[in-house]
Amino acid sequence: MSVEVLKSTSRGSGALLEGPHWDPVTQTLLYVEIYSGKVHRYTPATDSVETVDVGEFVGAVVPTKSGKTIIAGRRHYAFLDWKTGALNRIAEIDADKPDNRFNDGKCDPMGRFWAGTMGPEDKPAQVRPKQGSLFCLHSDRTVTKHVENIDIANGMAWSPDRKTMYYIDSLAFGVDAFDYNKTTGALSNRRQVIAIPHEEEGFPDGMTIDEEGMLWVACFSKSRVNRYNPVTGDKLQMLTFPATNITSCCFGGPNYDILFVTSSSFQLTSDQPLAGSIFAVKDLGVKGLPSNTYHD
Ligand code: BGC
Ligand code: CA
Repeated sequence: MSVEVLKSTSRGSGALLEGPHWDPVTQTLLYVEIYSGKVHRYTPATDSVETVDVGEFVGAVVPTKSGKTIIAGRRHYAFLDWKTGALNRIAEIDADKPDNRFNDGKCDPMGRFWAGTMGPEDKPAQVRPKQGSLFCLHSDRTVTKHVENIDIANGMAWSPDRKTMYYIDSLAFGVDAFDYNKTTGALSNRRQVIAIPHEEEGFPDGMTIDEEGMLWVACFSKSRVNRYNPVTGDKLQMLTFPATNITSCCFGGPNYDILFVTSSSFQLTSDQPLAGSIFAVKDLGVKGLPSNTYHD
Protein backbone atom coordinates (compact mmCIF):
# COMPACT_ATOMS: atom_id res chain seq x y z
CA MET A 1 0.00 0.00 0.00
CA SER A 2 1.23 3.54 -0.72
CA VAL A 3 -0.04 7.02 0.16
CA GLU A 4 0.67 9.84 -2.27
CA VAL A 5 0.00 13.54 -1.67
CA LEU A 6 -1.64 15.10 -4.73
CA LYS A 7 0.40 18.30 -4.57
CA SER A 8 -1.65 20.25 -7.08
CA THR A 9 -4.74 19.86 -4.85
CA SER A 10 -3.10 21.61 -1.88
CA ARG A 11 -5.09 24.66 -0.82
CA GLY A 12 -2.96 25.93 2.09
CA SER A 13 -4.65 27.32 5.18
CA GLY A 14 -8.40 27.70 5.64
CA ALA A 15 -9.48 25.11 3.10
CA LEU A 16 -12.20 22.65 4.04
CA LEU A 17 -11.94 20.11 1.22
CA GLU A 18 -14.87 17.73 1.09
CA GLY A 19 -17.15 15.53 -0.96
CA PRO A 20 -14.79 13.69 -3.35
CA HIS A 21 -16.56 12.04 -6.28
CA TRP A 22 -14.91 10.09 -9.11
CA ASP A 23 -16.35 10.83 -12.57
CA PRO A 24 -15.63 7.88 -14.88
CA VAL A 25 -16.73 9.80 -17.98
CA THR A 26 -14.09 12.51 -17.69
CA GLN A 27 -11.68 10.45 -15.52
CA THR A 28 -11.59 13.29 -13.01
CA LEU A 29 -12.11 13.74 -9.29
CA LEU A 30 -14.73 16.35 -8.33
CA TYR A 31 -14.70 17.87 -4.84
CA VAL A 32 -15.64 21.05 -3.01
CA GLU A 33 -14.05 23.57 -0.71
CA ILE A 34 -17.02 24.35 1.52
CA TYR A 35 -16.36 27.69 3.22
CA SER A 36 -14.54 29.31 0.30
CA GLY A 37 -17.30 28.30 -2.11
CA LYS A 38 -15.15 26.51 -4.65
CA VAL A 39 -15.79 23.48 -6.80
CA HIS A 40 -12.69 21.68 -8.03
CA ARG A 41 -11.97 19.08 -10.68
CA TYR A 42 -8.67 17.17 -10.49
CA THR A 43 -7.30 15.35 -13.54
CA PRO A 44 -4.82 12.62 -12.53
CA ALA A 45 -3.51 12.23 -16.09
CA THR A 46 -2.14 15.78 -16.09
CA ASP A 47 -1.93 16.29 -12.32
CA SER A 48 -3.90 19.51 -12.68
CA VAL A 49 -6.88 21.15 -11.00
CA GLU A 50 -9.61 23.33 -12.51
CA THR A 51 -11.54 25.52 -10.09
CA VAL A 52 -14.79 27.42 -10.26
CA ASP A 53 -15.92 29.94 -7.64
CA VAL A 54 -19.64 29.59 -6.92
CA GLY A 55 -19.73 32.57 -4.56
CA GLU A 56 -21.35 30.84 -1.59
CA PHE A 57 -20.87 27.85 0.72
CA VAL A 58 -21.01 24.59 -1.20
CA GLY A 59 -21.52 21.16 0.39
CA ALA A 60 -21.30 18.66 -2.44
CA VAL A 61 -20.94 18.28 -6.21
CA VAL A 62 -21.90 15.46 -8.56
CA PRO A 63 -22.16 14.99 -12.32
CA THR A 64 -25.56 14.30 -13.84
CA LYS A 65 -26.47 11.47 -16.20
CA SER A 66 -26.84 13.92 -19.09
CA GLY A 67 -23.39 15.43 -18.54
CA LYS A 68 -24.22 18.48 -16.42
CA THR A 69 -22.90 19.28 -12.95
CA ILE A 70 -25.16 19.73 -9.92
CA ILE A 71 -24.29 21.02 -6.46
CA ALA A 72 -25.76 21.07 -3.00
CA GLY A 73 -25.10 24.77 -2.46
CA ARG A 74 -25.70 26.77 0.68
CA ARG A 75 -29.42 25.98 1.08
CA HIS A 76 -30.45 24.80 -2.36
CA TYR A 77 -29.73 22.36 -5.13
CA ALA A 78 -28.48 24.03 -8.33
CA PHE A 79 -26.99 23.21 -11.70
CA LEU A 80 -23.52 24.68 -12.08
CA ASP A 81 -22.12 26.26 -15.23
CA TRP A 82 -18.44 25.26 -15.09
CA LYS A 83 -17.31 28.11 -17.32
CA THR A 84 -18.91 31.02 -15.46
CA GLY A 85 -19.68 29.65 -12.00
CA ALA A 86 -23.33 30.64 -12.54
CA LEU A 87 -25.91 28.63 -10.61
CA ASN A 88 -29.34 27.64 -11.87
CA ARG A 89 -31.24 26.93 -8.66
CA ILE A 90 -33.81 24.19 -8.86
CA ALA A 91 -34.91 23.55 -5.27
CA GLU A 92 -34.64 25.41 -1.96
CA ILE A 93 -34.41 23.71 1.46
CA ASP A 94 -34.40 24.73 5.15
CA ALA A 95 -36.28 28.00 4.46
CA ASP A 96 -37.04 28.21 8.19
CA LYS A 97 -33.33 27.91 9.13
CA PRO A 98 -31.48 30.63 7.21
CA ASP A 99 -28.18 30.01 9.04
CA ASN A 100 -28.01 26.38 7.94
CA ARG A 101 -25.89 25.07 5.11
CA PHE A 102 -25.63 21.87 3.17
CA ASN A 103 -22.76 19.64 4.24
CA ASP A 104 -22.13 16.20 2.71
CA GLY A 105 -24.13 14.90 -0.29
CA LYS A 106 -24.13 11.92 -2.63
CA CYS A 107 -26.31 10.15 -5.18
CA ASP A 108 -27.96 6.82 -4.52
CA PRO A 109 -27.79 3.91 -7.00
CA MET A 110 -31.12 5.01 -8.54
CA GLY A 111 -29.90 8.55 -9.30
CA ARG A 112 -31.44 10.56 -6.45
CA PHE A 113 -29.22 13.26 -4.89
CA TRP A 114 -29.15 13.04 -1.07
CA ALA A 115 -27.62 15.83 1.01
CA GLY A 116 -27.80 16.85 4.64
CA THR A 117 -27.63 20.19 6.42
CA MET A 118 -26.08 21.53 9.61
CA GLY A 119 -26.30 24.70 11.68
CA PRO A 120 -23.43 27.18 11.95
CA GLU A 121 -20.27 26.05 13.76
CA ASP A 122 -18.04 28.38 15.81
CA LYS A 123 -15.13 26.00 15.50
CA PRO A 124 -14.91 22.69 13.63
CA ALA A 125 -17.52 20.33 15.11
CA GLN A 126 -18.80 22.94 17.63
CA VAL A 127 -22.14 23.33 15.96
CA ARG A 128 -25.53 24.80 16.93
CA PRO A 129 -27.24 21.53 17.96
CA LYS A 130 -29.93 19.57 16.11
CA GLN A 131 -30.48 22.06 13.29
CA GLY A 132 -29.82 19.70 10.39
CA SER A 133 -32.00 17.51 8.20
CA LEU A 134 -31.36 14.97 5.47
CA PHE A 135 -32.92 15.76 2.08
CA CYS A 136 -33.33 13.88 -1.17
CA LEU A 137 -33.66 15.45 -4.63
CA HIS A 138 -35.59 13.22 -7.02
CA SER A 139 -35.35 13.14 -10.82
CA ASP A 140 -38.49 15.26 -11.14
CA ARG A 141 -36.75 17.92 -9.00
CA THR A 142 -39.02 17.47 -6.00
CA VAL A 143 -37.30 17.31 -2.61
CA THR A 144 -38.27 15.05 0.28
CA LYS A 145 -37.04 15.33 3.88
CA HIS A 146 -36.11 12.05 5.57
CA VAL A 147 -34.34 12.74 8.87
CA GLU A 148 -34.47 15.71 11.28
CA ASN A 149 -32.62 16.83 14.44
CA ILE A 150 -29.20 16.16 12.95
CA ASP A 151 -26.09 17.78 14.43
CA ILE A 152 -23.64 17.37 11.51
CA ALA A 153 -25.02 15.55 8.46
CA ASN A 154 -22.17 13.59 6.94
CA GLY A 155 -21.23 10.35 5.15
CA MET A 156 -23.60 8.21 3.12
CA ALA A 157 -23.26 4.89 1.31
CA TRP A 158 -25.54 2.22 -0.16
CA SER A 159 -24.92 -1.51 0.22
CA PRO A 160 -24.00 -3.49 -2.91
CA ASP A 161 -27.43 -5.24 -2.82
CA ARG A 162 -29.14 -1.80 -2.66
CA LYS A 163 -31.20 -2.74 0.38
CA THR A 164 -29.42 -0.66 3.01
CA MET A 165 -28.39 2.97 3.28
CA TYR A 166 -25.61 3.84 5.71
CA TYR A 167 -25.52 7.28 7.25
CA ILE A 168 -23.36 9.32 9.62
CA ASP A 169 -24.37 12.15 11.94
CA SER A 170 -20.87 13.02 13.18
CA LEU A 171 -21.97 13.80 16.74
CA ALA A 172 -23.79 10.46 17.07
CA PHE A 173 -20.33 8.82 16.96
CA GLY A 174 -21.20 5.88 14.80
CA VAL A 175 -22.66 4.70 11.52
CA ASP A 176 -26.40 4.12 11.30
CA ALA A 177 -28.18 1.89 8.81
CA PHE A 178 -31.66 2.27 7.33
CA ASP A 179 -33.66 -0.22 5.31
CA TYR A 180 -33.70 1.52 1.93
CA ASN A 181 -36.49 1.15 -0.62
CA LYS A 182 -34.72 1.66 -3.92
CA THR A 183 -38.01 2.15 -5.80
CA THR A 184 -39.28 5.06 -3.68
CA GLY A 185 -36.18 6.15 -1.75
CA ALA A 186 -38.03 5.64 1.56
CA LEU A 187 -35.93 4.92 4.67
CA SER A 188 -37.04 2.88 7.68
CA ASN A 189 -35.78 0.86 10.65
CA ARG A 190 -32.91 3.13 11.70
CA ARG A 191 -30.31 1.45 13.91
CA GLN A 192 -26.65 1.98 14.79
CA VAL A 193 -24.42 -0.65 13.15
CA ILE A 194 -20.96 0.69 14.01
CA ALA A 195 -19.95 2.50 17.19
CA ILE A 196 -17.06 4.96 16.73
CA PRO A 197 -15.86 6.10 20.17
CA HIS A 198 -14.91 9.78 20.13
CA GLU A 199 -11.89 9.55 22.47
CA GLU A 200 -10.17 7.06 20.23
CA GLU A 201 -11.43 7.88 16.72
CA GLY A 202 -12.51 11.54 16.73
CA PHE A 203 -15.53 12.57 14.64
CA PRO A 204 -16.83 10.18 11.96
CA ASP A 205 -17.15 12.27 8.81
CA GLY A 206 -17.48 11.26 5.13
CA MET A 207 -17.48 7.63 4.03
CA THR A 208 -17.53 5.27 1.09
CA ILE A 209 -18.18 1.60 0.50
CA ASP A 210 -16.10 -1.06 -1.26
CA GLU A 211 -17.10 -4.00 -3.45
CA GLU A 212 -17.06 -6.29 -0.40
CA GLY A 213 -19.65 -4.09 1.32
CA MET A 214 -17.16 -2.75 3.89
CA LEU A 215 -17.24 0.93 4.89
CA TRP A 216 -14.30 3.35 4.81
CA VAL A 217 -14.94 6.16 7.30
CA ALA A 218 -12.94 9.39 7.50
CA CYS A 219 -12.24 10.22 11.14
CA PHE A 220 -11.95 14.00 11.55
CA SER A 221 -9.45 15.16 14.24
CA LYS A 222 -7.64 11.78 14.34
CA SER A 223 -5.72 11.72 11.02
CA ARG A 224 -7.31 8.51 9.81
CA VAL A 225 -9.67 6.54 7.64
CA ASN A 226 -10.97 3.32 9.17
CA ARG A 227 -12.41 0.32 7.38
CA TYR A 228 -15.38 -1.31 9.15
CA ASN A 229 -17.59 -4.34 8.68
CA PRO A 230 -21.17 -2.98 9.03
CA VAL A 231 -22.56 -6.46 9.71
CA THR A 232 -20.37 -7.17 12.76
CA GLY A 233 -19.46 -3.57 13.65
CA ASP A 234 -15.78 -4.56 13.71
CA LYS A 235 -12.94 -2.22 12.78
CA LEU A 236 -10.85 -4.03 10.17
CA GLN A 237 -8.12 -1.62 9.14
CA MET A 238 -6.79 1.86 9.82
CA LEU A 239 -5.01 4.19 7.39
CA THR A 240 -3.24 7.24 8.78
CA PHE A 241 -2.42 10.53 7.07
CA PRO A 242 -0.17 13.55 7.73
CA ALA A 243 -3.11 15.85 8.57
CA THR A 244 -5.41 15.67 11.60
CA ASN A 245 -8.67 16.70 9.97
CA ILE A 246 -9.53 14.03 7.43
CA THR A 247 -12.95 14.77 5.98
CA SER A 248 -14.02 12.19 3.39
CA CYS A 249 -12.96 9.56 0.87
CA CYS A 250 -14.06 7.86 -2.33
CA PHE A 251 -12.74 5.19 -4.65
CA GLY A 252 -11.71 6.25 -8.13
CA GLY A 253 -9.26 5.83 -10.95
CA PRO A 254 -9.96 3.80 -14.12
CA ASN A 255 -10.40 0.62 -12.02
CA TYR A 256 -11.88 2.16 -8.86
CA ASP A 257 -8.84 0.91 -6.94
CA ILE A 258 -7.46 4.24 -5.67
CA LEU A 259 -8.87 5.69 -2.46
CA PHE A 260 -8.93 9.50 -2.69
CA VAL A 261 -8.96 11.12 0.74
CA THR A 262 -9.79 14.80 1.40
CA SER A 263 -8.54 16.87 4.33
CA SER A 264 -9.13 20.24 5.93
CA SER A 265 -6.84 23.10 6.95
CA PHE A 266 -9.73 25.20 8.27
CA GLN A 267 -9.01 26.73 11.73
CA LEU A 268 -6.10 24.45 12.53
CA THR A 269 -4.31 25.07 15.80
CA SER A 270 -1.07 23.37 14.79
CA ASP A 271 1.26 23.69 11.83
CA GLN A 272 0.35 21.03 9.26
CA PRO A 273 1.76 21.77 5.82
CA LEU A 274 -0.12 18.93 4.14
CA ALA A 275 -3.55 19.73 5.60
CA GLY A 276 -5.93 20.94 2.91
CA SER A 277 -4.58 18.45 0.38
CA ILE A 278 -5.92 15.28 -1.15
CA PHE A 279 -4.18 11.96 -0.63
CA ALA A 280 -4.30 9.00 -3.03
CA VAL A 281 -4.01 5.54 -1.48
CA LYS A 282 -2.98 2.77 -3.87
CA ASP A 283 -2.62 -1.01 -3.64
CA LEU A 284 -5.24 -1.48 -0.93
CA GLY A 285 -6.21 -4.83 -2.42
CA VAL A 286 -9.87 -3.89 -2.70
CA LYS A 287 -11.93 -1.80 -5.13
CA GLY A 288 -14.83 0.56 -4.74
CA LEU A 289 -18.23 0.49 -6.42
CA PRO A 290 -18.91 2.67 -9.48
CA SER A 291 -19.95 6.24 -8.60
CA ASN A 292 -23.61 7.24 -8.83
CA THR A 293 -24.80 10.27 -10.81
CA TYR A 294 -27.96 12.39 -10.52
CA HIS A 295 -30.52 11.24 -13.07
CA ASP A 296 -31.74 14.49 -14.58
C1 BGC B 1 -17.96 19.54 8.15
C2 BGC B 1 -17.21 20.47 9.05
C3 BGC B 1 -17.20 19.88 10.45
C4 BGC B 1 -16.68 18.48 10.42
C5 BGC B 1 -16.72 17.83 11.77
C6 BGC B 1 -17.39 18.20 8.21
O1 BGC B 1 -18.11 17.35 7.39
O2 BGC B 1 -17.95 20.02 6.83
O3 BGC B 1 -17.84 21.71 9.00
O4 BGC B 1 -16.41 20.67 11.30
O5 BGC B 1 -17.45 17.70 9.52
O6 BGC B 1 -16.73 16.46 11.74
CA1 CA C 1 -18.05 15.72 5.53
